[in-house]
Amino acid sequence: MFSFRSALLNGAVVAALASGFVACRAYQAFAAEKASFDPPPALARTDFPAWPYPRGIPDDEKEEGKVFHVPGSKQAFTFTQINGQRATIDWFPERHPTPPPPVISGREGAYNACGQCHLIDGGGKPDTSDLRGLPVDYMLQQLADMRDDHRHASINGAPLAKMVGIAKALPLDDARQASEYFHSIKPVKRLRLIEGDIVPVTHPAAHAIQKVDPSGATEPLGTRIIEVPQSFERTSLRDPSSGFIAYVPAGSIEKGRALATSGGGGRTLPCASCHGDDMRGSGAEFPGIAGRSPTAMARQLYDFKSGTRNGKNAVAMKPVVARLTDADIVNLTAYLASLDP
Ligand code: HEC
Ligand code: HEC
Repeated sequence: MFSFRSALLNGAVVAALASGFVACRAYQAFAAEKASFDPPPALARTDFPAWPYPRGIPDDEKEEGKVFHVPGSKQAFTFTQINGQRATIDWFPERHPTPPPPVISGREGAYNACGQCHLIDGGGKPDTSDLRGLPVDYMLQQLADMRDDHRHASINGAPLAKMVGIAKALPLDDARQASEYFHSIKPVKRLRLIEGDIVPVTHPAAHAIQKVDPSGATEPLGTRIIEVPQSFERTSLRDPSSGFIAYVPAGSIEKGRALATSGGGGRTLPCASCHGDDMRGSGAEFPGIAGRSPTAMARQLYDFKSGTRNGKNAVAMKPVVARLTDADIVNLTAYLASLDP
């Protein structure tokens, strides 16, 4: 099993070296034109579905001075403490180890606290990434890939663009402290799946959270997954204990299970051969993919497909995604989300 993985990675490295040259030149041309952390124009896509790349709107209700609480926490924070500065807040300090400075404070003039976007326990949101329990070396490699312009999103204005800026500003020692902290946190399930073909109408809201329309209106789900917070208010207040609901198409979990385990007669490769039998990851190269946000996981599959996620080990995923259809990606990520993290 292990040699199968290494063989794939080694073969893949040759291909990466061959293709890296082209991608790198495209990026240099772009960088000269405009400093931005969007994908190199030659690789940017406009034909990908929108759902894996959640959009937000500006926070228009600035409730300065107002003090907020969340259920089960003795803490109280103002709007400015929650949203208006480089540092972030900790509703439940008793539930996790003490966060190191990069996670809770960030660094003046360089980058905002990781906990702002990944939440203080690393659980993340559909637009960011669940970092809980990921291997330290996997996270450091991703940060290096972003810093060195080998990992972008496939579309302009995606959530990842801000993260690339952070990776470029992040001293290695801070990256290591943050990664060790997030690795130490055991993922617990915060996601509930609902299978069905009719879903609530949703709208982009502040913090790229998708908000359910208060009218109760519904629409066909189609070939998508819609992820909403269990409590819009609590997620807006960065309460890490409040989870998400993912609406997935009827029958998608079983179809995804069949494809993930069989490889679909050569359409893809069995995921467990690299990500481990329980999909909870294996070694520093193969991240756990079980029980994480289906929106975030689908976004990665599209980014591997477009070639904008093209870091040191990304080449192993190329044969996995090359022939996947939009429906396959919905089914696979619905199945992964149904597993325990
Ligand atoms: C402005 C919001 C923001 C902040 C602050 C932030 N991140 Fe991120 N981070 C993101 C987003 C968005 C993504 C995922 C993008 C994607 O889907 O590719 C991400 C992805 C990552 C990943 C890749 C995870 C994976 O599964 O491959 C790592 C590692 C990471 N962040 C670490 C950090 C660390 C460490 C800090 C603090 C020093 C930090 N982030 C601060 C937004 C942020
Ligand atoms: C040949 C080995 C291999 C196989 C088979 C494989 N993967 Fe991966 N996968 C990887 C590697 C290596 C990475 C990390 C890539 C990187 O560092 O950029 C990865 C990363 C991912 C990620 C991104 C995780 C994150 O934290 O951002 C997803 C999602 C994923 N794989 C899904 C799948 C699915 C679904 C399957 C089966 C259909 C699959 N993989 C099969 C090797 C593999």
